[in-house]
Amino acid sequence: MKTYSNIEFPDIEFPKTLGLNPELELKDLTATINDMISKSLPSQGLYDKKIIDALNYSMEVGGKRLRPILMLAAARLFYKTESTCGDSYSNDSHSHDPYGHDSSNDDSSVENSSKDLEARLIMPFMLAIEMIHTYSLVHDDLPAMDNDDYRRGNLTTHKKFGEDFGILAGDALLNLAYETCFAAIEAQDRPEYMRRAIKAASILSRKAGIYGMVGGQCLDVFLTDKPMDKDQLDYIFKLKTGALIEASCMVGVALAGASDEDIKKIELAASKTGYAFQIQDDILDVTSTTEELGKPVLSDEKNNKTTYVTLYGLTKAHEDVEKLSYEAISIIDKYDNSDFMIWLIKKLIDRKK
Ligand code: IPE
Ligand code: IPE
Ligand code: MG
Ligand code: MG
Ligand code: MG
Repeated sequence: MKTYSNIEFPDIEFPKTLGLNPELELKDLTATINDMISKSLPSQGLYDKKIIDALNYSMEVGGKRLRPILMLAAARLFYKTESTCGDSYSNDSHSHDPYGHDSSNDDSSVENSSKDLEARLIMPFMLAIEMIHTYSLVHDDLPAMDNDDYRRGNLTTHKKFGEDFGILAGDALLNLAYETCFAAIEAQDRPEYMRRAIKAASILSRKAGIYGMVGGQCLDVFLTDKPMDKDQLDYIFKLKTGALIEASCMVGVALAGASDEDIKKIELAASKTGYAFQIQDDILDVTSTTEELGKPVLSDEKNNKTTYVTLYGLTKAHEDVEKLSYEAISIIDKYDNSDFMIWLIKKLIDRKK
């Protein structure tokens, strides 16, 4: 364990995701991410018991962990995963060097490995994105927003801890995400890694805010009970859901040392993936069951919301999930080591939860 600014980063080694047995690889990776989360969450003191309980509950109660999974999978498009040190490689087909071994790098004597990169640099950002996503869910479920009682197969945070602590747990998670990012920046002893961490934190903060997730949620709640046109739905989808999926993938590749040009390409692929993900979320709201989904079905109808399904119908909704996902894949498959990520995007097409 290393402690930076009171944040303890556990020693975590992520399993390989080569796409050879992707179902098993996903299971292993999800378990490792759950382990990372439970080892990183804050412990209680005397007077903060309830907020820490509420925060930890919201994070540990369940969830697919899609965003940290995507972050790691996207990062791994830019290097080969090895479990031993000193076996970094540079792929001629890419303009970048995943380990920053360029002439301007002033610390190139430091031995690197994908293991080191992931444990020291990518891991804290995987935590941060899941915290921001979880806070967005905790607030989304509040009575003033979607007013839902179940999430991740259990009572929503405000149902269990009260509305006041639902609000505060969300606030605390958002702040903790940035505390984690700053601690990660502070912890870097290689200038190249520190530069990447600052860039990643900047991407993450923008995609979470009014030009990202929060902005999408604002129009979503503003237009609840009101008519909504296709452009407005498009804006909402790209921001409320797309932005954090974009952040996940962009942060991953930025931390792996991708060029700005590659970060842009990955942003587009992630935007399509995120859009498809929200269409599927709207589909499942009318086709699934609360037991399977772990959150109430017909929540959109209850709130009189316009959805992809109400605007375009189920058939086109299904078709567009597939179309957008394959467009995303056509961008991702230009990169090496993309088998797992491509498999994951395909799997999301007909996800059931
Ligand atoms: C739910 O996200 C909210 C949307 C953006 C549609 P997820 O479906 O990824 O929720 P968890 O993290 O698995 O609970
Ligand atoms: C929410 O969209 C997206 C967020 C930013 C949380 P929804 O309101 O459709 O998400 P669910 O269905 O409650 O998970
Ligand atoms: Mg909502
Ligand atoms: Mg909701
Ligand atoms: Mg929904």
